[in-house]
Amino acid sequence: MSQDLNHWQQQIAACQSLKQLDDLRVHLIGKTGVITGLLKGLGALSFEERREKGAEINQLKDSVQALLEVKKTDLVEFELQQRLKHESVDVTLSPRPEHLGTIHPVSRTIDEIVAYFSQFGFTVATGPDIEDEEHNFNALNIPAHHPARQSHDTFYLPNQDGIVKLLRTHTSPVQIRTMKNESLPLRILAPGRTYRCDHDATHTPMFHQIEGLVIEKNIHMGHLKSCLIDFCRHFFEVDKLPVRFRPSFFPFTEPSAEMDIGCDRSNGTMKIGEGRDWLEILGCGMVHPNVLKNCGIDSDVYQGFAFGMGVERVAMLKYGIPDIRLFYESDTRWLSHYGFSPFTGS
Ligand code: PHE
Repeated sequence: MSQDLNHWQQQIAACQSLKQLDDLRVHLIGKTGVITGLLKGLGALSFEERREKGAEINQLKDSVQALLEVKKTDLVEFELQQRLKHESVDVTLSPRPEHLGTIHPVSRTIDEIVAYFSQFGFTVATGPDIEDEEHNFNALNIPAHHPARQSHDTFYLPNQDGIVKLLRTHTSPVQIRTMKNESLPLRILAPGRTYRCDHDATHTPMFHQIEGLVIEKNIHMGHLKSCLIDFCRHFFEVDKLPVRFRPSFFPFTEPSAEMDIGCDRSNGTMKIGEGRDWLEILGCGMVHPNVLKNCGIDSDVYQGFAFGMGVERVAMLKYGIPDIRLFYESDTRWLSHYGFSPFTGS
């Protein structure tokens, strides 16, 4: 017996891998293993012999098991060291800049605008892309058959339970959702996707808008003007940027205006802040009392202003991007030219 143990000890010691060791374990103490066979053979012996032999074989089995355990721990450690040796990473290798992505101009522009307004306590609000007529039109004081509905070239969706669903044509429905659900006063920005049936060099069926809304006590047109003038001067990085507010019409604001910034188009390129031309940049106005009423707000106590601008449009102007359609072609040459480094921001 001790001879056997010696022999098996050598076999265990000679194992080079966990696989080999496990095969040996099965061979020795598995269901049909050698030592298991010895134990089974005990049945044929007399009571006395069985007691003596049984104790001996069980001791042998314990010893073999202990040897297998120790060897297994050694091999696990050995195999781990081998793997670490082969899988080590050379941290001195230089990175591969060609695989670096860029921040899309739309994301970058939204981030810039949000960062600017957040200094003044604006927070970001969101709403669904699939809107209903109530939020996209009715509550915004755009009644059925109002011509403004046609001007939006709406994508309508199949009727659901009598509710007219559509892809939102502007971010203004977020005004309604926020006024109905949040407590006053409020200052929000609502960036997001909007949809209109339109496609040419300056229009895509999906584009982005960013909406602003302020509802507070004693808010007037002066607040709207100073807020937007300061924003445009900051955004376009021109301190004395000429601006003008042109009377306009939106059903959800009264009075309504469009804001223009000064530019020069005389020699084929667009220079912002110079020359005598004007460029429309956003729509704005004082929130219409009917809209406040539709959201359960007493317009004798609270007033507010709102504005909305096209994200691609201001990005194109600021960064000199000529064609809106290329924003969504996913051409990596375009993206690496107009995109922004996630690390340096430039
Ligand atoms: N929703 C308007 C549009 O899409 C823009 C706007 C927003 C105008 C807020 C006034 C106030 O044209």
